[in-house]
Amino acid sequence: MANGDKIPAKMTAVAISQPGGPLVLKPEKRDVPEPGEGEILIRVRAAGVNRPDVQQRKGAYPPPPGASDLPGLEVSGEVVAVGQGARRWRPGDAVCALTPGGGYAEYAKVHESNALPVPQGFTLTEAAALPETFFTVWHNVFERGGLKAGETLLVHGGSSGIGTTAIQLASALGAYVITTAGSAEKCEACLKLGADRAVNYREQDFVAAVKEVTDGRGANVILDMVGGDYVGRNYDAAAVEGRIVQIATQGGAVASADFSKLMVKRLVHTGSTLRPRTVEFKGRIAAALEAQVWPLLAARRVVPVMDMIFPLREAWRAHERMEEGEHIGKIVLDVA
Ligand SMILES: NC(=O)c1ccc[n+]([C@@H]2O[C@H](COP(=O)([O-])OP(=O)(O)OC[C@H]3O[C@@H](n4cnc5c(N)ncnc54)[C@H](OP(=O)(O)O)[C@@H]3O)[C@@H](O)[C@H]2O)c1
Repeated sequence: MANGDKIPAKMTAVAISQPGGPLVLKPEKRDVPEPGEGEILIRVRAAGVNRPDVQQRKGAYPPPPGASDLPGLEVSGEVVAVGQGARRWRPGDAVCALTPGGGYAEYAKVHESNALPVPQGFTLTEAAALPETFFTVWHNVFERGGLKAGETLLVHGGSSGIGTTAIQLASALGAYVITTAGSAEKCEACLKLGADRAVNYREQDFVAAVKEVTDGRGANVILDMVGGDYVGRNYDAAAVEGRIVQIATQGGAVASADFSKLMVKRLVHTGSTLRPRTVEFKGRIAAALEAQVWPLLAARRVVPVMDMIFPLREAWRAHERMEEGEHIGKIVLDVA
């Protein structure tokens, strides 16, 4: 490790003491991580909370090999030390970063290519809300889904951290955006973010709504985190040559659907998970985001939607809030 001054040996982190409910999240003392080859050590100021953290806490989403067992997939803060061969950042630089785990802590290490500058005009708290959803949406909507300006995107879960990011990015890049959400208040929030149409899925069939607003053509790209009976309904809502990208299966991982629609409409049904991908892959997404999305943030054409902030030690309250499902946008931990 080079040039770290006053870095303590121990730090406070919030760990998963055993699989279970929010109260299994407990503060404990851990060794401060040592940055390895190409890595940086960040003094964390804020950490984003994501649905995959809840899954990990329940024991349903184990960390990939080599990753910290601590939850936390994104952080912001100051660089305090750099490992061998790391060249981009210097101590004192303000960054936000995608972490493979370990974000619920006072210090976190990441490969330098997985960090980005805090966008101009944003606080560290806001910056911590960016990486996980921006990396996920960029890869799945624009790379796997190939969404282009002038096409129609259907985003399920529009008021989620992922959904609020997808709506804004797709809208800023010239797509027509239809979204689904579970209440009138959430639909209203989605419209304010730039969605052209928000469907309260508890009251209205989204397939009929998509057909109605696209004159029967359907959506070119669908970002789905629900699965279950949405699989067949997405095939119905998709346009000819449509691309459906699965990023979660909250409504069920096993479904039956009419697969003849895949042939008749020449659909592509794909999906991905971000966390186990390589450092190189994530570095490539970071570079694309910095070139194409960071300017949109600096111009405030896209902003993270902040729901609530909780102290690190009360991470259990943040998880409780997420599981209640009332939040709109991002929940963040303050790691002052
Ligand atoms: N594949 C990846 O790489 C990746 C990366 C990050 C996140 N994810 C996934 O993306 C999803 C969103 O993550 P997040 O952190 O943004 O979570 P979040 O803010 O907690 O959002 C969860 C969303 O799911 C919606 N939802 C849940 N069950 C539903 C159902 N049965 N029918 C319709 N909508 C349902 C909720 O909508 P309502 O409140 O309107 O019902 C809510 O908006 C999660 O499933 C997460 O695991 C995947």
